[in-house]
Amino acid sequence: MSGTVTPVLEGRVALVHGASSGIGAAAARVFARHGATVVLTARREDRLRALVEQLRATGADASHHVLDVRDGEAVRRVVERTVERHGRLDAAFNNAGVGLPRTPMHLIEDATYEHVVGTNVTGVWNCMRHELAAMVEGKGGAIVNTSSVGGLVASSTGAPYIASKHAVIGLTKAAAVEYASHGIRVNAIAPGLTRSEMIDAWFASSPEAEERAHRSAPQGRAADPEEVAETAAWLCSDLASFVTGATVPVDGGRTAW
Ligand SMILES: NC(=O)c1ccc[n+]([C@@H]2O[C@H](COP(=O)([O-])OP(=O)(O)OC[C@H]3O[C@@H](n4cnc5c(N)ncnc54)[C@H](O)[C@@H]3O)[C@@H](O)[C@H]2O)c1
Repeated sequence: MSGTVTPVLEGRVALVHGASSGIGAAAARVFARHGATVVLTARREDRLRALVEQLRATGADASHHVLDVRDGEAVRRVVERTVERHGRLDAAFNNAGVGLPRTPMHLIEDATYEHVVGTNVTGVWNCMRHELAAMVEGKGGAIVNTSSVGGLVASSTGAPYIASKHAVIGLTKAAAVEYASHGIRVNAIAPGLTRSEMIDAWFASSPEAEERAHRSAPQGRAADPEEVAETAAWLCSDLASFVTGATVPVDGGRTAW
């Protein structure tokens, strides 16, 4: 075969939230590799700055903003500045999220519930509202929200986390239906166990937890964050032009069992 293949996000402007580590940092690399201009957000400036420098060294157009997704006004300003600087917003990956240690429901503090739901649900709400406004103005776009296998099935991971990730799927479906006529697609991904600093630390302290976790997925391993990020990139691209309102498991078969 001859000729070159155009990267699937060539010329697109993409916001990636929760980009300082794990799946979000992988998405920053993957989206840039697929040709997107990436605007990265998270709370840790040193991490974002280092990632932006790495990406620029590869020739990518990358920048960052420090942002707490629980702060709706701050999210609005970041979306506005993105559109001012780049002319539009084509794609957004709403991936910032927090987990919580395994704790029986009756022992979880109200403050913990509020922290998890505030970040995972209100955070996605804040991001989507302002991104949708920019995409309506720009006459199209694609949004991907990070849910979890915990948004599809329950486990003993912690009820607020399970509830928050189910809510992400609800928000995704509602926005997909409401904004389809504006040329905007909205989907969710449901990652299974994915290598991240938190997961690596957990495995290091408990080798039996690692073995148990690997046994719970047909593929018998955790995902590399880039495997998850590739699915988000695909959903943001025109390759997924007829996919909206969907939740795509990226879980090595975990929820097929
Ligand atoms: N790692 C897994 O096994 C797994 C499985 C299913 C779903 N997820 C989901 O994937 C997403 C990414 O998680 P990860 O595993 O890469 O973990 P991670 O801790 O490495 O990344 C989380 C990111 O979100 C950011 N963040 C957290 N709270 C924030 C806030 N209030 N404002 C702005 N940024 C904030 C963090 O700074 C970080 O950049 C999360 O939504 C998580 O729930 C992870």
